[in-house]
Amino acid sequence: MVVVTGAAGQLGKAIVDELALQNIEYLGIDRSTVDLSQAKELQDFFKDKKIEAIVHCAANTNVEFCETNKKVSYRDNVQATKNLVDLSLQKEAYFMYMSSTGIYGDDQKTPYSEVDTVHPTTVHHSHKLESEGLIAASLSKYVILRTGWIFSDLKKSFVFKILESLSGLTEMKSNTEQVGNPVYSKDIARSILEFLKKAPKGLFNLVGARPVSRYEFVCEIVKLSGQNIKVEPVLNSHFKRLAKVSMNESASCKKMIKQGLTPLPDWSTGLKEVVNKFLS
Ligand SMILES: NC(=O)c1ccc[n+]([C@@H]2O[C@H](COP(=O)([O-])OP(=O)(O)OC[C@H]3O[C@@H](n4cnc5c(N)ncnc54)[C@H](OP(=O)(O)O)[C@@H]3O)[C@@H](O)[C@H]2O)c1
Repeated sequence: MVVVTGAAGQLGKAIVDELALQNIEYLGIDRSTVDLSQAKELQDFFKDKKIEAIVHCAANTNVEFCETNKKVSYRDNVQATKNLVDLSLQKEAYFMYMSSTGIYGDDQKTPYSEVDTVHPTTVHHSHKLESEGLIAASLSKYVILRTGWIFSDLKKSFVFKILESLSGLTEMKSNTEQVGNPVYSKDIARSILEFLKKAPKGLFNLVGARPVSRYEFVCEIVKLSGQNIKVEPVLNSHFKRLAKVSMNESASCKKMIKQGLTPLPDWSTGLKEVVNKFLS
């Protein structure tokens, strides 16, 4: 059985849907099933269950919140991962961890590869890196997948939030400085299933082809919405954020391609699908 954590979240939901589609036995869990940060609760829940693989998507993904709530961030991002690593060891399960290209930091202007140094600039990303470290130090059967700007058809998705915000607007502002790779939840889910089947080990970037600025991404969403709204390009300093997120979260997926894994498609098809779903 494949266990998927964060199954009510953007990515976890897409993965359980894909597992169901491919008739693979799975168990999707979320906070309502078990609190991953509670070791005993987790142990009791899985006591008599056989697990072949754990796909760990649960996390506290609210980067702004984490900045001022370090303990909660640690609990949900690091402690929860530690408890799952222990479970993985006991069950001898393949461990798949969803990490972030945001952990690379601000050291370079070009897309990051897996060999580049990491200097996370926020609490959330520091905790993601700490989790990566404890996985690599404890397990042999694991893969760490650093992904980018996930979007999905769930209400919490960045794309949905932008579309909802358009109502009544004639113009809006967006950041030209921050660059990253948008990535459609369903595209990652299909790729995760390939990783599950081939079970490679180590660290991989896993993002959609074609990095863009936040501004370019928002322009694309607005264009697809069919609304006549002007998107004004502004610098990052226009937005007052607590978390000093990296201005370059873009990454290259050459390593996975070299190892015979299928690269993710351009995100534009997924974006059209999500916008059409919102509009229908
Ligand atoms: N979203 C992005 O753009 C992005 C970018 C790079 C990497 N990632 C990584 O990709 C993964 C999936 O992201 P996502 O966007 O799908 O996240 P998401 O939609 O925020 O879903 C995460 C889920 O994890 C659950 N969770 C958090 N702490 C938990 C705990 N202690 N016990 C049980 N469940 C818990 C959350 O439940 P609650 O809602 O109840 O807290 C939520 O349903 C994460 O590891 C994230 O760090 C995401």
